[in-house]
Amino acid sequence: MVRSLLDVDDLTATELDTVLDRAAELKAHGDGQPLEDQTLGMIFEKPSTRTRISFETGMTQLGGHAIFLGPDDIHLGHGEPIKDTARAVSRYVDFIMARVFDHADVVELAEYATVPVINGLTDDAHPCQTLADLLTIRERFGGFDDVSVAWVGDGNNVCQSFVVGAAMADLDLTVATPEGYGIADNVRKRAAALGTEPETTHDPEAAVADADVIYTDVWVSMGQEDQREQKLADFEGFQVDDSLVGDKTVMHCLPAHRGEEITDDVLESDNAIVWDQAENRMHAQNGLLTWLAEQE
Ligand code: CP
Ligand code: NVA
Repeated sequence: MVRSLLDVDDLTATELDTVLDRAAELKAHGDGQPLEDQTLGMIFEKPSTRTRISFETGMTQLGGHAIFLGPDDIHLGHGEPIKDTARAVSRYVDFIMARVFDHADVVELAEYATVPVINGLTDDAHPCQTLADLLTIRERFGGFDDVSVAWVGDGNNVCQSFVVGAAMADLDLTVATPEGYGIADNVRKRAAALGTEPETTHDPEAAVADADVIYTDVWVSMGQEDQREQKLADFEGFQVDDSLVGDKTVMHCLPAHRGEEITDDVLESDNAIVWDQAENRMHAQNGLLTWLAEQE
């Protein structure tokens, strides 16, 4: 069966460990060119810095090649149904990575593709970010056992995949969002089924009280620009600033909106491990790609 990664729980907890181990190994030692002559098709409906460059560079490092397919480059969803794109593209490439708005679109891509489909971010999930985040936490703290993370901000795509990944890694997590911006019920239920539902609160100070790490992301995600004014008002009090952080470690998937969800001071401080997170996107994805290549 062709394996895809639409969210982190498409892996078992053991497989997640294997992918992270492999990512760490590739980061430390490389592994020749295991994906020689293989091609990744990268479909983007939204902009990207990290996802595009980390996948493209990663494929080069692994001996393969990546093709960038931006919103004006292919017919996806406009001149051609998704299921037709999925089947045609699968005849050329060995993996498809897709960044789209509607999560149902990556589900449909994976249903019809005959090669692995990797979710490079949808409105609901960002599993590749979670793989990198877990790798970064493991590097920093030596494991997940004695680490406590507080998510402060929007219960968005990055948060939702992190909730699922944290449940699988048995990582202690509290999620603080304003009312009305919490994680979806299906995410909460999946996390509970995987072993650990996160604590939830609307109080950022309470959420971080016992945390080692504070993780945040933008309040206005791509595609939500028309909600900007409302969200800036609703998220007042949720900014990750010096007084909230103290000596805690700070994570952010980037891009950051300085002066909104995080201050410039915090992002530029030694507490922030955001550049390690960004670098680890590539290593985590290299681990995932080489693992996926062996599953067929
Ligand atoms: N974190 C992340 O996915 O960044 P990009 O939007 O730059 O790809
Ligand atoms: N929540 C953000 C993440 C960007 C990587 C967005 O969807 O725009």
